[in-house]
Amino acid sequence: MTLDLSPLYTPFQLGPLTLPNRFVLPGMQRQWCEDGMPLPKLGEYYRRCVEGGVGLVITESCAVDHASSTQVPFFTRISPATQDAWAGIVAEVKSAGGPMLMQLWHEGAIRQEGGDGPWAAYPTLSPSGLAHGARPNGRAATLEELDDIKQAFVRSALMAREIGVDGVEVHAAHGYLLDQFLWAETNRRDDGYGGDDIRDRVRFPAEIVAAIRAATGPEFVIGFRFSQWKEVNFNTRVVDTADELKTMLDILRAAGVDVFHASARRFWLPEWDGSDLGIAGWTRRLTDRPVIAVGSVGLDIDVMENFFGQEAKSTGEEGLRELARRFGNGEFDLISVGRGHIGDQGIVGKMREGRLGDIRGFTRKDVLGDLELEGGIQFEAHAS
Ligand SMILES: Cc1cc2nc3c(=O)[nH]c(=O)nc-3n(C[C@H](O)[C@H](O)[C@H](O)COP(=O)(O)O)c2cc1C
Repeated sequence: MTLDLSPLYTPFQLGPLTLPNRFVLPGMQRQWCEDGMPLPKLGEYYRRCVEGGVGLVITESCAVDHASSTQVPFFTRISPATQDAWAGIVAEVKSAGGPMLMQLWHEGAIRQEGGDGPWAAYPTLSPSGLAHGARPNGRAATLEELDDIKQAFVRSALMAREIGVDGVEVHAAHGYLLDQFLWAETNRRDDGYGGDDIRDRVRFPAEIVAAIRAATGPEFVIGFRFSQWKEVNFNTRVVDTADELKTMLDILRAAGVDVFHASARRFWLPEWDGSDLGIAGWTRRLTDRPVIAVGSVGLDIDVMENFFGQEAKSTGEEGLRELARRFGNGEFDLISVGRGHIGDQGIVGKMREGRLGDIRGFTRKDVLGDLELEGGIQFEAHAS
């Protein structure tokens, strides 16, 4: 069977944005940053991705303007102190005509405690003071603190809008704060924001979406990224059934989500027995919002296997045929290419031209340099 990727090179209307094709650069931290301020090199890299063909840029996870969001100086933040630096990044992307969302993020109970940074004395806050594996870290946020964090998301979204970003992606995946709300293991609250019922666990993330929507109006794109898997546990789940998934999506959609980014490590893996739909395919089936799929496009091993020591190889035409097949089945509207873009910012254009052999492959060294990995370290901490 010949490889026909042309359907993926058709435009897509995402709210007010006309995307030239279906390819997305997903949030990926590069650590090109000083004291929370992105360095020009980050903007140049995003611009190269747009010039290389990608249809939508989502920035790396950017900590929201709150003392508890992160303490790590080489993770970008959005705040009055960093807004100008971000404006420079936006200008680069816009100079190439790229639509752009900023990924808004808060570490929750994964935050490092102590240190001597400006926020060292501030407590680490999360739903129940629990990181994965029921490991205590920090404490449960009070309702007042939750409101504060929500306002920080809103403030951050407004700062992004002010400098010309087209929308935000609320990061509720991979085990960070908003995922800690969605995940029953880390959310044991009994005040209507947690516990066994997904309707309670999604309440705070949905309130954040609704508050951003109310502050930014209908034209500002709001994406929502979620995942079943965590960096520390690949087999766990936020929702156990399609019914639960639908409940979660309906609440988020009503709150104002424009696009769901269903994060998987491999886009082709079925989510539940009895169907070959992945989590993106299920999301697409259960909501009328567009869906971004992701996970090892063009690569034989997933991001975590990469981080824990193996090198990825190209799956060549075969993997891309499966991508085209699933897209043709209507399982997703947009597809993220992560590591592929780190390896080669021109990957989208080269695939279009059928120049697969010219694509520079991703290597671990591209992000890790000479750093060696230990088990269980957050991957957002490992770009370089
Ligand atoms: C170096 C690196 C940094 C990442 N940082 C983020 C991040 O900031 N936010 C996020 O949501 N995902 C992050 N991810 C996950 C990617 O967005 C993506 O989901 C993952 O790499 C799978 O896509 P791929 O198989 O095409 O690489 C990161 C991945 C890599 C490789």
